[in-house]
Amino acid sequence: MAAAKIIDGRAVAQQVLAEVEDGVSRLRQAGVVPRLATVLVGEDPASRAYVGNKRRTCEQVGIESVHHQLPASTTTEVLLELVRELNEDRAVHGILVQLPLPGRMDTQAVIEAIDPAKDVDGFHPVNLGRLVAGLETFASCTPAGIVELIHRSGFETRGRHVVIVGRSNIVGKPLMNLLVQKSPAGDATVTLCHSATREVAEHTRRADILVAAVGRPGLIRAEMVRPGAVVIDVGINRVEDPDAPRGYRLVGDVDFEAVRERAGAITPVPGGVGPMTVAMLMVNTLKAARRAAGL
Ligand code: GUN
Repeated sequence: MAAAKIIDGRAVAQQVLAEVEDGVSRLRQAGVVPRLATVLVGEDPASRAYVGNKRRTCEQVGIESVHHQLPASTTTEVLLELVRELNEDRAVHGILVQLPLPGRMDTQAVIEAIDPAKDVDGFHPVNLGRLVAGLETFASCTPAGIVELIHRSGFETRGRHVVIVGRSNIVGKPLMNLLVQKSPAGDATVTLCHSATREVAEHTRRADILVAAVGRPGLIRAEMVRPGAVVIDVGINRVEDPDAPRGYRLVGDVDFEAVRERAGAITPVPGGVGPMTVAMLMVNTLKAARRAAGL
């Protein structure tokens, strides 16, 4: 079997970003400047890199970003106060609090404090509930980016069996709900595997489309993949590598070199799902700004 097609998430993300840039420029002509507030608590290097990337992408498409950097010692109450201020600020259309927050903070209270109309991450229970009900919502960026990437790469989900490994609130659960919607972007049959699933490989081998979203390098091995399947790797894991310039390299949850010999198509890490997540954040921020302007 020929080696898998490599799905170029960077290229697809650029298509999406070009569309967002166009929408932003039209909104600016109507007198509205879309603005995203980003909040980072502490100095975690990976989180800093993600937020920096999101802000650079804002600049690329013409969205203004305003960053709030808080010390790692910040209390939940102080962060909640900032979120309330951002909720009230009519010039701010989207609020992004980078996760994870330091362990002692009440993450759920922070998520629930964000005005659902500014919840461009789609983490608020109101938006998650609307997603489940098939109503207009902000879909979380990684799941929305995965669906967009699959379709823009020429693969259908309708009638296909999608197996997702990982049941997080950020990826697995919302992705399952997007994919089962009665719509051309959904209409899939979905199996969701998690840490209590028995014989995970029995499920993954039946997948037309396999999504790995656990955060464990090498989780998906070649024998777990049906020949010809589309494999979407959501993991972004730092593994030590003394030969790499920074002492580590990024790998996904999929044993890429082995699985590419068996899959029909596969996303690389980096350069697969990651750029799509950021692109969908821009889509959601533009949508929030349009809605706030009554457009
Ligand atoms: N941490 C990991 N992924 C995400 C994301 O999509 N949004 C936020 N806010 N934090 C994250």
